[in-house]
Amino acid sequence: MQGPERDKPETKTASGAASGDGSAATYDFMVVSNRLPVDRCAPGEHGDDGSGWRRSPGGLVTALAPMMTKTDGAWVGWHGAPDETVTPFSHGGMDLVPVQLSTDDVELYYEGFSNATLWPLYHDVIAPPEFHRTWWDSYRKVNRRFADAVVRHADHGATVWVQDYQLQLVPRMLREARPDLRIGFFNHIPFPPPEIFAQLPWRQAIIDGLLGADLVGFQRSSDAGNFMRSARRFLGASVKQQQVHVKGQNGDITHIARAQAFPISIDVRQVTELANKPEIIERARQIRQDLGNPKTILLGVDRLDYTKGIRHRLKAYEELLNEQKLTVGDATLIQVASPSRERVEQYRLLREEVEGTVGHINGTYDTIENTAVRYLHHSYPIEEMVALYLAADVMLVTALRDGMNLVAKEYVTARTGNDGALVLSEFAGAADQLKQALLMNPHDIDGLKDAVMRAVNMSPKEAARRMRSMRKQILDHDVDHWSADFLHALNEKVVRDDS
Ligand code: G6P
Repeated sequence: MQGPERDKPETKTASGAASGDGSAATYDFMVVSNRLPVDRCAPGEHGDDGSGWRRSPGGLVTALAPMMTKTDGAWVGWHGAPDETVTPFSHGGMDLVPVQLSTDDVELYYEGFSNATLWPLYHDVIAPPEFHRTWWDSYRKVNRRFADAVVRHADHGATVWVQDYQLQLVPRMLREARPDLRIGFFNHIPFPPPEIFAQLPWRQAIIDGLLGADLVGFQRSSDAGNFMRSARRFLGASVKQQQVHVKGQNGDITHIARAQAFPISIDVRQVTELANKPEIIERARQIRQDLGNPKTILLGVDRLDYTKGIRHRLKAYEELLNEQKLTVGDATLIQVASPSRERVEQYRLLREEVEGTVGHINGTYDTIENTAVRYLHHSYPIEEMVALYLAADVMLVTALRDGMNLVAKEYVTARTGNDGALVLSEFAGAADQLKQALLMNPHDIDGLKDAVMRAVNMSPKEAARRMRSMRKQILDHDVDHWSADFLHALNEKVVRDDS
C-alpha cells in the first residue's frame, strides 16, 4: 500500500529548514520508534515473503499494524543498516518511512547515549552509566532527524505516537514545529527516581523533551510518579494529580502534559493459537525427549542483558545443584540468551561472564547423558518459543529491573492447561499484574532458591489456581487493549486539574 499522495504546501522541518519535499505522502496517524517494525531477511529465511523484509516479532507491531492499515498510518524508524539510504516503502500493509543513521550515529546515539548512558541510568544503575558530551550531541541531532521525518509526513492535526527512550526529545521538537499535532509518548523501560535521574547532565532537556507530549505513558504507576517528581524538581513544573502544567518562556501555561501508567501486553491470540497447534505441542514433547525427559525443565528466555539477572539465576541454580536439592537428570535449565547490543562493552563483559559460568556449571555437574544448563545464544521464531514455553515446567524471570517483561506474559498465555509455575522478579513491571506468580527479590539468592524449589514442588492444584488467575488477567488485557487505552486517553479532552 502506498501512502496517499496529497497536494501539500511545502512544510517546515523541526529544524526550521524547508523540507523541499512538498509532494511527500502525508498521514493522519504516525508511529515513531528507533527501529522500523521490519528486519532484513535473506531469501528462504523464516518469515521471508520475497520482499527482502519480514515483520519484526513483538506485540507493539501486532497492536499497531492494523491501525496503520485502517487509518492513513505510517511508521517512522531506522531500518537497521548503517550508512544506507532506503526510500519510503510498504510492507505487509504498512507504510514505512526509513530514517538513515551513519556509522557514527550508531556508535554515538544508539550504542552510546541510548544504550550506555540512558539504559543503565534508567535501570537502577546496575551498570555504571557513561556521560559523554559527544554522545549527547549525537542524540540531539538524531532525535531532530526523526522529528523532521514526522513533520514532513504528518497531516494537519495528525496523531503522532513516539516510542521509547531513544527518542525522548522528539515530542518537544514536534510541538515547536507543529503545534497542530496530537503528540503521545510511551516509555517502554522504567523511569528512574529523581535521586538517580539527577546524575544526568542533560536532565532538564530530557524532561523538557518529554513534556512536549500531550500524554506520556509508562509501564508502572511508580514510573509515572518518578517522572512527575523529576518534572517538579528539575524544571519547577507544577504537577497536579496526573497533570503537568507546562509553562512557556513568559510563565504562561502552554499546555497540559499528562503522565499515566499503561502496562503493555502481548498478542494473546497469536500465542494461544500457537499453543494449541498439534505440531507445536509435538515439538514441545520432542524438546523434552531430546533433553532425556527430565522431571523438571526450568526455562529462562532473555536478551543477553545485564538487567535480566541471568547471573543471579545461574548462581541460585548452581547452589541448588551443589546442595543436591536439584540433580542433573531430574532437572535441566534451558537458558535462551538472544544476542543483543554486542558492540557495547558491558554486553561483551556480560557474555563472557555468563558463558564462563555456564561452562563451569556444566563442567562440574553434567553427566555423559544429561546436561545441567542447555545454553542457547540465539534468537528463535515465536513458534519455537511457544514450544519451549509448553515444554517448561518452571519459568524463571529474575530481572534486576525491567520495564515490563513480556516473556512472563507469553509463558502464562501459552499454558493453556493451567499448569506450570512462574518465578517472577518483583522488579519487573509484570509483577504489578501477575500477582499470583512466585514473586521474589533476585538479589536475595536464598529467597530465589526457595522460590525455585516451591515452583518445582508445587502441587498441580496450587499451580492451576495461580495460573488460572494470571491467565485471566492477561486474557482480559492484551496488547490491543493497551494501544486502544493509550490512544483513547491521548485523544481525550483534558480538563485542567487545579485541585
Ligand atoms: C528493549 C527496548 C526497545 C528495544 C529492544 C531491543 O525492549 O525497550 O526499545 O528495541 O529492547 O533492543 P535494540 O537495542 O536491539 O533495539
